[in-house]
Amino acid sequence: MCGIFGYIGKSNKASEIVFNGLKTLEYRGYDSWGIATLKSKITVKKRVGKIGNANVDDLPKSNFALGHTRWATHGGVTEVNAHPHLDCSGQFAIIHNGIIENYDEIKEELLKKKHKIVSDTDTEVAVHLIEEIYRKSTGKSKKENFLEATRKAFNRFVGLNAIIVMDAETSTYVAAKNGSPLAIGKGSNENFLASDAHALIPYTKNIYFMEDGEIISVTPENISIFDALTGRKKTLKFNKLTWKQTAIDKGKYPHFMLKEIFDQPKVIENIINDSKFQIINFSDIIKNSYGTYLVGCGTAAYACLAGTYIFSKISGRHLNFSVGSEFGYLVDFLTPKSLVIALSQSGETIDVIDSVKKAKVKGAQITSLVNSLGSTLYRLSDKKLLLNAGVERAVVSTKAFTAKLTVLILLAYQLAGKISEGKSILRECLKVLKEVLCRDNLNRIRKLVKTLVSQKHIYIIGRGVSYPIALEAALKIKEASYIHAEGFAAGELKHGVIALIEKNIPCIAFLPNDETYGATLAGCMEMKARGGYIIGISHKNHEVFDYYLPVYDVGIASIIPSAVVGQLLGYYLAIEQGLDPDKPRNLAKSVTVR
Ligand code: AGP
Ligand code: GLU
Repeated sequence: MCGIFGYIGKSNKASEIVFNGLKTLEYRGYDSWGIATLKSKITVKKRVGKIGNANVDDLPKSNFALGHTRWATHGGVTEVNAHPHLDCSGQFAIIHNGIIENYDEIKEELLKKKHKIVSDTDTEVAVHLIEEIYRKSTGKSKKENFLEATRKAFNRFVGLNAIIVMDAETSTYVAAKNGSPLAIGKGSNENFLASDAHALIPYTKNIYFMEDGEIISVTPENISIFDALTGRKKTLKFNKLTWKQTAIDKGKYPHFMLKEIFDQPKVIENIINDSKFQIINFSDIIKNSYGTYLVGCGTAAYACLAGTYIFSKISGRHLNFSVGSEFGYLVDFLTPKSLVIALSQSGETIDVIDSVKKAKVKGAQITSLVNSLGSTLYRLSDKKLLLNAGVERAVVSTKAFTAKLTVLILLAYQLAGKISEGKSILRECLKVLKEVLCRDNLNRIRKLVKTLVSQKHIYIIGRGVSYPIALEAALKIKEASYIHAEGFAAGELKHGVIALIEKNIPCIAFLPNDETYGATLAGCMEMKARGGYIIGISHKNHEVFDYYLPVYDVGIASIIPSAVVGQLLGYYLAIEQGLDPDKPRNLAKSVTVR
């Protein structure tokens, strides 16, 4: 997790540039932040909490600064534990993304050598190790010794890590990566570094995505790259990105989450209109594979699970599903004929990337439906289909989910040789979506939210393709509003969960106009008989419902507006409690640690 931004160059506004970079990267982690600025000596400013309206006017005017926005793994959320961390002498400052799994053994060693380690992080150990190795280096220039010390220290770390180290003596920095993403941006007599290339686009389009096992040494004029293991020099070739600088603001909306919910009709329309060749190409790959696995985490996992139903129903094709963090334990089944379809908004989710790498070793073909251009997953995949949903900033994922569902529906229809039918139900779905997003319906949802907000538990059921939609609605409610919501397959009610239903417990049921309607309705009756307060999301009202939210029938595409109702419930439940749904506690947008 965590966002990293670095600047070295001709401007004396390095701290400001880094601070603005951190604001763009805050979605990656926001429990605390910090900046190190070098002006003859290193000055560090750290704060707990989101960046909000802070400023860095108190930092010296300088041409060199590094910044970090943290998602804590080791050590509580305190100012001391926030990055950057300094060595004993104050010569080096480090920022870090990842986990140094063997930090305790290194720490013990360093404590014996009288290093003063003040934080509880794994990160601080790294900067002291660099100091220790540096002090013992001889023979070469200070700059080379610094690079060498950082390289040797980095090679001792177990785990997936990216580190950036500032050296006050040489006014240079060294960055190395294994696992966590880092992109370098080259300007004229100035260089940038960030965890996400989008943060670099306002400054330069000359970008290099660092590969695992690379280490760089950076001055304002020059970047040299080496193999971290051997120290051998490599050639550095920048690519000119054609990405446009997308306006990433909330527009007229109070939160990114709401803006992104309202972006959905446009995103879906664009996918229907623009993805023709990609869909044909991708569906051919699925057709020719023997054993296809949909893999993703969180919301993306629910899109994968929905995919298994969509392909089964529409194209009579069996696709397997695994959550990203478990797929690595299933790769024994894979052969070079297997196909992995990884779904990810960020393209940086480590649980997915780890698994995909394992699948690659088994020779499986790797494809992905990914939203973030240039991301690790995007680069790892043999074939990729860009979701083109636009930047998703709210930590609670919305439009990336429905974009994935749209693509999966199109792929399934293409595979069945019925693409026009697929497009036609999706176009109808756009009309229903507009009704879900109209003022009257929002008021209907807000009224319901007033009843739900005081509840401790909400149960959500669905069958068939509505089962993953129930899971996703529960996740939206949990993440955004911190109310415990549990989604499950309606048929499972009788197998245990019904024991939890008591008077007035809210039970939300997805009942589209498909083969699951009658059986899910029976589930509603069973919950009602035990006092449950039944909220029906369906194409028609029914007397068993205590509250009714309409979602008109558009065949299998009904899952899209149904999912949007779940998103709106999550959003308004957060708003009703005064919570910030864009940055819920304990979460980060890109989950780059295991
Ligand atoms: C859901 O709202 C997210 N907070 C989370 O579950 C997310 O979907 C998951 O971490 C996967 O992210 P990705 O799509 O970027 O891989
Ligand atoms: N493990 C480090 C810490 O807890 C880095 C976490 C991050 O990537 O933000 O401080």
